[in-house]
Amino acid sequence: MKEQDIIDGLKPICKCKGIRKSVFLKHMKAGLRTVEALQKATGAGTGSCKGKHCTERIKELIRNHPG
Ligand code: FES
Repeated sequence: MKEQDIIDGLKPICKCKGIRKSVFLKHMKAGLRTVEALQKATGAGTGSCKGKHCTERIKELIRNHPG
């Protein structure tokens, strides 16, 4: 893994719950491909903003990492 990928993986996707990008990527590698499934698996979207900030980021993540 490239250094930049590691640094990138540390960035939180869901800031309310502090869930990092790498956690989402792990679940996506395991086959989860929808916002709902990823939120359920990670707990994202259950923070104080109720997913207002992270839902779009999760969608983007799915778009940027096809299949
Ligand atoms: S950023 Fe995910 S619930 Fe607020």
